[in-house]
Amino acid sequence: MNQLQTDSLPFSSRDFGADFKWGVSVAATQIEGAALDYGKGPSIWDIFSAKKGKIFQNQHPRMACDFYHRWKDDVLLMKACGIKNFRFSISWPRVLPLGTGPVNEKGLDFYKALIDFLLEQKMEPWPTLYHWDLPYALELKGGWTNRDILFWFEEYAHLIGRNLGNRGIQNWMVLNEPMVFTGAGYFLGYHAPGRKGFSNFIPAMLHAALCTAIGEKVLRSHQSRIKVGSTFSCSLIHPASETEANLKAATRADALLNRLFIEPALGHFFPLDDLKVLRPVEKIMRPEDEQNVKANLDFIGVQNYTREVVEAAWYVPYMKARLINAKKRGVPHTEMQWEIFPDSLYEMIRKFSAYNPKIPIVITENGAAFPDQWNGESVVEDPQRVSFLQSHITRIWKARQEGYPVEGYFVWSWMDNFEWAEGYRPRFGLVFIDFSTQKRIIKQSGLWYSRFLMDLEPAIPNPEFHLA
Ligand code: GCO
Repeated sequence: MNQLQTDSLPFSSRDFGADFKWGVSVAATQIEGAALDYGKGPSIWDIFSAKKGKIFQNQHPRMACDFYHRWKDDVLLMKACGIKNFRFSISWPRVLPLGTGPVNEKGLDFYKALIDFLLEQKMEPWPTLYHWDLPYALELKGGWTNRDILFWFEEYAHLIGRNLGNRGIQNWMVLNEPMVFTGAGYFLGYHAPGRKGFSNFIPAMLHAALCTAIGEKVLRSHQSRIKVGSTFSCSLIHPASETEANLKAATRADALLNRLFIEPALGHFFPLDDLKVLRPVEKIMRPEDEQNVKANLDFIGVQNYTREVVEAAWYVPYMKARLINAKKRGVPHTEMQWEIFPDSLYEMIRKFSAYNPKIPIVITENGAAFPDQWNGESVVEDPQRVSFLQSHITRIWKARQEGYPVEGYFVWSWMDNFEWAEGYRPRFGLVFIDFSTQKRIIKQSGLWYSRFLMDLEPAIPNPEFHLA
């Protein structure tokens, strides 16, 4: 068991300044439920999860956390916990059931009500336009591999900008982790829509990069004073040892996992020199694409959970590299088998701010899954998550002390939810969900975060992760 010590953190949330954005993150598919109700069209995740063997125990997001019906109570609970910033995503097929064309007004009304209520409660909405739930009707036309997605996405972004842009939202995000939805969804096939190989991945990659810039411009065209960012997954990469082969493997993994989407967004195009296998993108791109992938981001959303240790592996096609998992390395890890390595977050802040120190960074996701259990009565004990959050927040503190422009931190996630191919097994929440009754039970980590945000005593326990 991991034990918590009870010394204080050397700072309080107030020390980060009044402008620092403390919040929590969720995503539509993972929490909303009502997946085929109230006029919503099916997303690729609704269809993918209905296929046998794709999701842990054939679970599906049809009900998830039933947020569609319980959002008001959930928002009030967040408010009671002192959470001032709520990052969520808008479901494209809920507002455009076929992806383009006829609008589902009920879907728009849902987000209008949510946004207005958040603002009334003095909480800031942080919507993301696309968190992986492509309308299935568009997947039938090729989804992210079809260049027409540039127009489909533009139409969707205009609809959102027109209807939700004038309600007082300050901060928007365009895409959630393009590397993950193109990599897992169009290359490895273990996420929806379950397509594989470079012939799918390369066009999906190009179009996702272009859509980051399109979404940014469209949102801004509706409201000039907003801030528009986009979010990027990243992990510190270490070579398994300092051999030349492993160092090269680490460079390739870094280019793929950390640089592939942020570099085009910042105007450097794809890192093809370090990832020659992606060169075929040059055959499908248009001359103007090199310019058009550049997005004018007001902030970079950094999403970090772990670090990766990489070794050369000649038998792995294309990449010739593989990640050595944490269990095998015998290091502390979460339920996702992700190593607990807080310095990864600190190093990623440094790496991303090195591109352009003037662009603020917001940690739009960071968190951990542990096998939490509820005894049917009191709070759920999750000391490992408390420790995880403290050690990561300590790294943000350190980065800020050194002058790095980190302006916010969002815990993934507010509540346990549908973790994609892993179903409901990994629990990432500050709030435990009993999925059989939809009861919400706050975890110790939720209480801790809440006390931290509200600057309440008792003293906050020690930041470091201790194995007892
Ligand atoms: C992601 C997504 C989240 C995940 C979270 C935990 O980053 O993969 O944004 O939807 O649930 O990261 O894996």
